[in-house]
Amino acid sequence: MSRIEIFDTTLRDGEQSPGASMTVEQKYEIALQLEKLGVDVIEAGFPVSSPAQFEGCAMISERVRGLKVAALARAVPKDIDQAADAIAKAAHPRLHTFIASSPIHMEHKLKKNPDQVFEMAVAAVKHARNRVAEVEFSPEDATRSDVDFLCRLVEGTIDAGATVINIPDTVGYATPEEMHRFIATLRERVPNIDKAILSVHCHNDLGLAVANTIAAIEAGARQAEVTVNGIGERAGNASLEELVMALTVRHDALPYTTNVVTQHIYHTSRMLSAMIGFPIARNKAIVGENAFAHEAGIHQDGMLKHRQTYEIMTPATVGRDDSKIVLGRHSGLHGYRKRLEDLGITLNKEELTQTYERFLTVADRKKEVFDEDIFAIISDELGHQVGGVTLEYFNIISGNTAVPTATIRLSEGDVTFEEASTGDGPVDAIFRAIDRALGIETTLEEYTVQAVTPGKQALGEVSVFLRIDGKPYKGTGSSTDILEASARAYVSAVSRYRAVVNPPASPTKREA
Ligand code: KIV
Ligand code: ZN
Repeated sequence: MSRIEIFDTTLRDGEQSPGASMTVEQKYEIALQLEKLGVDVIEAGFPVSSPAQFEGCAMISERVRGLKVAALARAVPKDIDQAADAIAKAAHPRLHTFIASSPIHMEHKLKKNPDQVFEMAVAAVKHARNRVAEVEFSPEDATRSDVDFLCRLVEGTIDAGATVINIPDTVGYATPEEMHRFIATLRERVPNIDKAILSVHCHNDLGLAVANTIAAIEAGARQAEVTVNGIGERAGNASLEELVMALTVRHDALPYTTNVVTQHIYHTSRMLSAMIGFPIARNKAIVGENAFAHEAGIHQDGMLKHRQTYEIMTPATVGRDDSKIVLGRHSGLHGYRKRLEDLGITLNKEELTQTYERFLTVADRKKEVFDEDIFAIISDELGHQVGGVTLEYFNIISGNTAVPTATIRLSEGDVTFEEASTGDGPVDAIFRAIDRALGIETTLEEYTVQAVTPGKQALGEVSVFLRIDGKPYKGTGSSTDILEASARAYVSAVSRYRAVVNPPASPTKREA
């Protein structure tokens, strides 16, 4: 069985993408999380490019001791010296130097001929080896390079001391079959190839980055360069979570192992997304909101009977909470009944049929039917309050000179609760007022806002993820007012908690 080293370049290639920049402290936090995740190498930055890049590499080198720390350098002495200085204190330093090898880059960008590029690459690797024991060399735009020149360059840089040869598909141009052939050709034609580890670095311009990485692995690459959430230049890099889970889930077809602790994947993904303010697409594989959500009635029915009907991995494998049965217009009776059960509501057969019909009319008008809608349907249809906390109203005082203050009124059955609280912002004030009103202590682990319809009157959907008494509760709310959507989401999460600790009396039971 072959072990694949995971080289994470979230902090270099990822951070380089527009809008993804991080402070030195943020980079350090992510580096600690990547260490926990079990990656083998972190590329911490490009030290010559700015003092903050240098500082980030130096801080991570000094403090993150359990993995290799790489720094990037162009194939020029100044860059190499800066990179070597930045990682000097690393427990396991690696210097990564690169120069472009494709005709288009050599002619138009570098304005050098292949012989000049060859000499620069060999000199750079020798210089780097005088400073750092582990040196990685990348022929940039390798997949658009002349294969004879590439073989010569790889042989020359291994002779000069490169210990890792990385083949980048810099512009995401290759197909899986071509990527496979590139790696296989290098292995066949470069006589000293076994003196270096072969690596692959794929960009996602055609959405093929993970497929190309896998093709390279199948051809003999033993290091894969990836980023968390696939962030990176333009369309990004091969995504760590997709590659690792493909190797894990399809181990039968892809007999390779990594050191990644898959249970840390989701947290790492969310942490990065929140830190850089990059939302994750709902349908993103592994870490997207919908990756383990089921709405179609047939799928819900299948899932509830046997989860492997529609899930190829469990959410727990990647550190997520349970799969989500989304109630909407495509849901069937089975999914509806299961949600009632989760909310602690038991109905007899007629009540179930009657409320399900009403549910379908509500579902036809809404994108998603939330728990609070279910409570309202049941109360309306059966004339009974069935528990669940309801948001009666909220008021906010806010502004750039006022301390944000929220007043809130909630009801639960016949009881009403009123409270007020200040907060760090209006949303925080609302959440604190709800906690105070219900006398509960919560930890807000995640808060996301998404526009679900376009335009000025966009419907915003807020999701919150709370922990109460150590247990997770998720809530979602929507409104054209983000504060109202936030309040509704929070109330819905809290309702779920109340339903568990204090199940609502069912209409049937009340009548009895
Ligand atoms: O995409 C690329 O070619 C790179 C190199 C610096 C490895 O990021
Ligand atoms: Zn790259």
